[in-house]
Amino acid sequence: MKPTLKATVAIGCLIAFAGTPALGQSTSSGGAGRPANQTICDYYTQAVFGNITAENELTLLTLLVNTVVIGNYSPAANQSVLVPGILSSSGGLAKYFTGADKTTNRNNVPTAVNFLDGGGAAPLLNNTPAMDTKSNQYILISHLYTGFGALLGCSVQASGAAFPTYEGVTSMFEVHKFMRLNKTEMDFFITQVALAAQSFGVADSDITVVGGLLNSAFNQKCLPAAPLVPGAPNELQSICTDDSCPTAPNASCAAYAAALPGGSSTSGASTRTAGPSASASATASVTAGASGSTPTGTKPGAAGMLKVGAGAFVPAVAVVLAAMMM
Ligand SMILES: *[C@@H]1O[C@H](CO)[C@@H](O)[C@H](O)[C@H]1NC(C)=O
Ligand SMILES: *[C@@H]1O[C@H](CO)[C@@H](O)[C@H](O)[C@H]1NC(C)=O
Ligand SMILES: *[C@@H]1O[C@H](CO)[C@@H](O)[C@H](O)[C@H]1NC(C)=O
Ligand SMILES: *[C@@H]1O[C@H](CO)[C@@H](O)[C@H](O)[C@H]1NC(C)=O
Ligand SMILES: *[C@@H]1O[C@H](CO)[C@@H](O)[C@H](O)[C@H]1NC(C)=O
Repeated sequence: MKPTLKATVAIGCLIAFAGTPALGQSTSSGGAGRPANQTICDYYTQAVFGNITAENELTLLTLLVNTVVIGNYSPAANQSVLVPGILSSSGGLAKYFTGADKTTNRNNVPTAVNFLDGGGAAPLLNNTPAMDTKSNQYILISHLYTGFGALLGCSVQASGAAFPTYEGVTSMFEVHKFMRLNKTEMDFFITQVALAAQSFGVADSDITVVGGLLNSAFNQKCLPAAPLVPGAPNELQSICTDDSCPTAPNASCAAYAAALPGGSSTSGASTRTAGPSASASATASVTAGASGSTPTGTKPGAAGMLKVGAGAFVPAVAVVLAAMMM
């Protein structure tokens, strides 16, 4: 398959590139090769593919996101960097993808949804989001591509382009609220992003930037409302909402309580009740997915999902990012 081959070669180059001090461009903070005025997405796309195009940025994000989801799979990635993936049994996140519990927000109702209905891991192994374009899996994974693309500052993402702009739900709290994710779970997710990036040779300094962005934009409870992407309305963005999550500066906890069904801060507790007993086990889903027959894929919450995407986005996020790039 041509795209796969291209991606493989590209990542091999990325790893090789990462070992060199610079690209012939200005130096950046932290000793990595990225110039301070170039985004992480553009920098690595340029380094790997030689050209910043929508197709190339999509390929880069596909490799990164698919690895975050199913763990190491690309033969060209550094296999010494073990990436379990968010569907692995070790992280406890798989249950949010299998429809095991009523953790997805559908019209403000906690609903059990199978996000592995697009072929599971098999299509991800082929560098695609799903086997079809109608599945929950396709929507979720595609949103992860575009959301992370925005987060990493992909400059040529555009509506109608090969790599479209993020078009999912713009309140990360609304997408994830019935999961009531705790600090351990969120940290595991963010760690998978860091490990996946590391496996493809992304510089430690750049991984630190992305981790900091995810932590400040989503990994605290009661975060003040902010737009997820430029032009989006001010909305609640906390993904970490459990008591174990650190409380954000300028916390607006009342706004979160009011956004839960019943309007009370405790009503959400009932949303983690078990759903259909038929739910597959998380572990089984990952392994079975490779066979291509069982629904096993990956998909976080609702339509928008773990879209970490505040991309070039959220003013609040943009400020943090800008500060970290100084
Ligand atoms: C980034 O900075 C370098 C050196 O200052 C400059 O040559 C280049 O044009 C800048 N690139 C962008 C996209 O601003
Ligand atoms: C980059 O893309 C432009 C057109 O968009 C093309 O002319 C050029 O040859 C490409 N460069 C590489 C290295 O692929
Ligand atoms: C692969 O990862 C290991 C463990 O982090 C590291 O020691 C090694 O240098 C990496 N190899 C390349 C080619 O980057
Ligand atoms: C977070 O939730 C997981 C279940 O997904 C549980 O095993 C873990 O103990 C919880 N951690 C905290 C800090 O509450
Ligand atoms: C808290 O809110 C005030 C007033 O809106 C603002 O000036 C300040 O920057 C905010 N602090 C943080 C950490 O967001």
